Amino acid sequence: MINSIVAQLARQSWAVKPDFLPATLSSQLASEAESCYQSGRLRPAGTGQGPEREVRSEIRGDGIYWLDTQDATPAQTDYLERMEILRLAINRELQLGLFDLEAHFARYPAGAFYKKHLDVFRADERRTLSVICYLNENWQTEDGGQLRLYPENEHTVDVLPRGGTLACFISAGLYHEVLPATRPRLSVTGWFRRR
Ligand code: OGA
Ligand code: MN
Repeated sequence: MINSIVAQLARQSWAVKPDFLPATLSSQLASEAESCYQSGRLRPAGTGQGPEREVRSEIRGDGIYWLDTQDATPAQTDYLERMEILRLAINRELQLGLFDLEAHFARYPAGAFYKKHLDVFRADERRTLSVICYLNENWQTEDGGQLRLYPENEHTVDVLPRGGTLACFISAGLYHEVLPATRPRLSVTGWFRRR
């Protein structure tokens, strides 16, 4: 499982692994993300950082909730522990110097999208590897919501946001976008950062 992710990252700037999260964990995280939404705890996602931060729904339309290790549920702790195992394996094999993780739930309402972008801020280059775990049960191609990757000198790659699938890519090097979906789209999105 982790070996295959590491092997993909050794030869290209991205990796996709279906069934990375067990179905029980994916559905528990999905219900926690959905209850954050229901209770008004999601905030509109922005672009930029610090004084450059802006909320612009013509660029991205998701709502987010930052995970906090201090006050994580058992399912969130399980997710964070899996991320830690992945971080250590990637560091061991690829020497990316990944130091920590920041992660949030993201919920895109039907019709929302995130235009083509890179995951680094102008004044903060710590984000190194973007890691997204999708939480959507019974997602079909017709539901849309693909993550579209634009690797340099390669064909674009579309990833369906199916429950349990992990997608990761080099934050500063790979342009990507989120296509609109016909139903709400849930994920837990993280960034492994360098110091
Ligand atoms: C992001 C992002 C992709 C996705 O949050 O920066 O690109 O598939 N998300 O949710
Ligand atoms: Mn992104």
